[in-house]
Amino acid sequence: MHKAVHFKTTSMGSEPWSEKVKTLLANMQLHEKIGQLCQVSGNEGHVSDDLANQIRQGWVGSVINEVDPKTLQHLQHIAINESRLGIPLLIGRDVIHGFKTIFPIPLGQAASWSADLVEQAAAIAAQEASSIGINWTFAPMIDISRDPRWGRIAESLGEDPYLCSVLGAAMVRGFQGEQMSSGKNLAACAKHFAGYGASESGRDYATTNIPENELRNIYLPPFKVAAEAGVATFMSSFSDLDGVPASGNKWLMTEVLRDEWQFQGFVVSDWESIFQLQIHGLTANAKESALLAFDAGIDMEMVSNTYRNHLIELLDAKHIDIEQINVSVAKILTLKEQLGLFDNPELCSDLIPAFYHPDHLAVAKELATKSCVLLQNQNHCLPIDKHNIKNVALIGPLANDGYEQLGTWIFDGEPQHSITLLDAMREECGDAVTINYQAGMSHSRSHSTELFDPAIEAAQQSDVIVLCLGEEAILSGEAHCRADIDLPGNQTQLIDILSKLGKPIVMVLMAGRPLTIETVLPKVDSILYAWHPGTMAGPAISDLLFGNTSPSGKTPVTFPRKVGQIPIYYNQKHSGKPPTEAQCIYIDDIPQRSPQTSLGMAATHLDTHFSPLFEFGFGLSYSEFRYSELQLNQRQILPTDSLTLSFLLKNHGQYDAEEVVQVYIRDLVGSVTRPVKELKRFRRIKLAAGEQQQVTFTLTADDLAFYNRQMKLQSEAGHFHIWVGGSSACTLKQEFELLHD
Ligand code: BGC
Repeated sequence: MHKAVHFKTTSMGSEPWSEKVKTLLANMQLHEKIGQLCQVSGNEGHVSDDLANQIRQGWVGSVINEVDPKTLQHLQHIAINESRLGIPLLIGRDVIHGFKTIFPIPLGQAASWSADLVEQAAAIAAQEASSIGINWTFAPMIDISRDPRWGRIAESLGEDPYLCSVLGAAMVRGFQGEQMSSGKNLAACAKHFAGYGASESGRDYATTNIPENELRNIYLPPFKVAAEAGVATFMSSFSDLDGVPASGNKWLMTEVLRDEWQFQGFVVSDWESIFQLQIHGLTANAKESALLAFDAGIDMEMVSNTYRNHLIELLDAKHIDIEQINVSVAKILTLKEQLGLFDNPELCSDLIPAFYHPDHLAVAKELATKSCVLLQNQNHCLPIDKHNIKNVALIGPLANDGYEQLGTWIFDGEPQHSITLLDAMREECGDAVTINYQAGMSHSRSHSTELFDPAIEAAQQSDVIVLCLGEEAILSGEAHCRADIDLPGNQTQLIDILSKLGKPIVMVLMAGRPLTIETVLPKVDSILYAWHPGTMAGPAISDLLFGNTSPSGKTPVTFPRKVGQIPIYYNQKHSGKPPTEAQCIYIDDIPQRSPQTSLGMAATHLDTHFSPLFEFGFGLSYSEFRYSELQLNQRQILPTDSLTLSFLLKNHGQYDAEEVVQVYIRDLVGSVTRPVKELKRFRRIKLAAGEQQQVTFTLTADDLAFYNRQMKLQSEAGHFHIWVGGSSACTLKQEFELLHD
């Protein structure tokens, strides 16, 4: 982790800035200081005269969206050798789930529940990107996402604050490494601060409605943990939070982030989001936007130029203070120093791009393998025994498309390096089994049935059908939200036809979100949910299909039965009328014109079951894991004590396999209502067939803490339930009590 610098945000006098930073500040002209607060867009592959001049004159602190190595070298050369003070540039890029080697989309990575692999993937992404001169990534995205209609759920780490915190911190460690100046690392950016994932009805950029207590208990924890993990920068969200969009929200950016959490890095706005304060209707013009954002605590402006155009004027009018500007500049210069940019002016002169190294591909494959979730496996249809079959019909547009398997936010991924499922299945089976590939549809959204016939014919001749369907990459990601999250296009029709052939059907789904697939479940035997798995999708999925390894991914978000259930998430509040089987009544069972009865008076819908289709944390294995003998070291603990729980995990099945064991608690009575379950710990455990292991975890009173009505983080004395198991629906339970001091 980079060395933390300890400074206050308000006064320069006592700041322990380095001598280098202090000297630069003392020598900077006002416009050069403001220039450090400005990030501009590159010209994609060349340096325009205008950009070169801006850099020479000291008007640019950072460049975004330039990846041509020679151009980057040229840009840094101008900054270092041709500007008055020779201050290097921060070169920002959205390196979200890999640079060239593409790993699963972040939601897929979250399904691996493996902090270790997530960290390795981020480290590889950093190594590849930094090899061409990039030094700053806009990741991790740690917005809690409870709405699969939202396209950016693909980029998120799911719905749970704890899982998201653990994996987000792992990404920060991976990107930044031990020493950001290593030349192989990137500064990371925790985004989008805060609440962006709660955009109304899953429409990107829409407003959010998050009470402060929920904000603090659900949406903010991953950001706090990222700050504690030493993340270099934060990005303000596009969204409106309680009437004040994040880029102008002083409470969030200064009171919470700086004063409460003591965050020491700097905040960059999201793309033109300072300018957009006016479009939100919060300011009347760009000058007011600049004032509001700067005063709120946004240090650097991404792409729009309200700072460049108005900060000098605002300073002259004494609306802002030069000390405030000095602090923002010092924070940005400090990051440049931590990245080693001042010490290594020839940083980009010795380029050794390290793309697609076999070690990188091995991690990409392992992470993709561990992120696939087996949702259904009727008749033990999986794994496929390749020694007992002759023909596989591989059907679906996503089975052989190197681009779509990469998913959203891959600026730099190259589909020609992808290994598709078709490639990998042919490699796996050699001549022994014929893999008859038919796309069936030209793309996932197709409404044509033109390609159905050859697919049906291939299916008729096969011993098993492998259907690779889902969503193309463009159906998720920024500004790509869906109101209907069923399988798109004609996919259901194709499934209907194939399901009538009486052949075993294995469905592999690639998608950027949980899709509503309830009606499809009875028509196929097995479902392997692969998200968008990245460069190594093919080998990862093929290994799972043929049983070279057992599936071990677990859902990082709840799968709804119907879109009308959204938002549906496991850590919901109990409500005063929780639904039970006995309580529920369904639309077709209601007698006509009957007087109202108390039956059905519960928090549920008339036209679907109250449970989700697949709960958070769910995922099958080829083996079977049994949990037993849950024990606590004590039934009553003091706030200073720790609670140790232990249980026996047994691999009861026929396969060596990994299980993600999960620990949940419920605080039975709180000064504010508490969720019905909260994830507190998890671990991946590998057991050979028949093997068993005693597993232990330790919790402290801090793990039981939550923000109370006064917005204070504290644990409250009282009774708790604690569960262990393989999903959030686990039932193996004990009770304990937290005592007063
Ligand atoms: C996105 C950010 C991204 C930025 C720069 C914005 O539209 O919201 O997540 O980092 O663009 O590409």
